[in-house]
Amino acid sequence: RPITVLGVPMDLGADRRGVDMGPSAIRYAGLADELESLGFDCVDGGDLRVPRPEERDPDAEEPAGGRAKYLGETRDVCTRLATRVGDVLGRGSFPLVLGGDHSIAIGTVGGVARTRETGLIWFDAHGDFNTPETSPSGNVHGMPLAAILGTGPFAASEWATAPTVPEENVVLVGLRDVDPTERPAIVDSDVTTFTMTDIDHRGITDVVESAIAVATDGVDHLHVSLDLDWLDPSEAPGVGTPVRGGVSYREAHAAMERVAAPEVPLTSMELVEVNPILDEHNRTAELAVEMAASALGKRVL
Ligand code: ARG
Ligand code: MN
Ligand code: MN
Ligand code: MN
Repeated sequence: RPITVLGVPMDLGADRRGVDMGPSAIRYAGLADELESLGFDCVDGGDLRVPRPEERDPDAEEPAGGRAKYLGETRDVCTRLATRVGDVLGRGSFPLVLGGDHSIAIGTVGGVARTRETGLIWFDAHGDFNTPETSPSGNVHGMPLAAILGTGPFAASEWATAPTVPEENVVLVGLRDVDPTERPAIVDSDVTTFTMTDIDHRGITDVVESAIAVATDGVDHLHVSLDLDWLDPSEAPGVGTPVRGGVSYREAHAAMERVAAPEVPLTSMELVEVNPILDEHNRTAELAVEMAASALGKRVL
């Protein structure tokens, strides 16, 4: 079973520098060895070239309304990433994309959805449903879901919108920090949301079962986008935008083990927002490796 790792050292979508080192940190944490030990044939496709913020003007390209910093650079990176991901799938390999901030999901999902209908589970503390008009920060890592779904001004951005990701097959799991300005777009959309409150009430297994059922209803493929800030900061301190009250280590593993069930058509995955500068001895990157391993079938016995 072939897996192709693609690193995207992207930090243009986030305020705090350091997520650009995520791909290195995750590799250093032993990703390839772990995947090989699970029986995968792991090929490293290297890192995409991403410009440094110091060499660019964040407002070189201004959206029609509002703000989206480094929008032109983000489009360029995501367009190239989409092509790479599409090529990996075309070769029959499983793309595992390492971020980088969450803006890269526009490229990953764009590539995944290029040839086929795909459901999406977004494990995240955040909604990532802002547009340049609603964003409080102008950071594109708070916008990728809106972009992928062609929400608001993104409807005009062909590079961002993934028309083969039906809104009805998009599920957010673990929400606990939604901006008042992005809230209406989430509520008005056809995406399904499971907040931390739902996880409190129903338990992680039941919530993830439901998420999988919704995301894969009527489609043959599932993409998992895992923002490490989904986990509680006590487990994943090395992230740019930590929010208290996240899922525990055990809940996270339980969720990924559900995703690995043989009937779940997982065909691509990304691990984003690992920031080794803010981390404690690379433990968030190590956690990212563990999450990938569980999602790809690692079991105790
Ligand atoms: N909602 C905030 C914003 O729009 C934070 C987004 C955080 N996103 C992330 N992928 N960590 O700026
Ligand atoms: Mn995110
Ligand atoms: Mn997040
Ligand atoms: Mn709709």
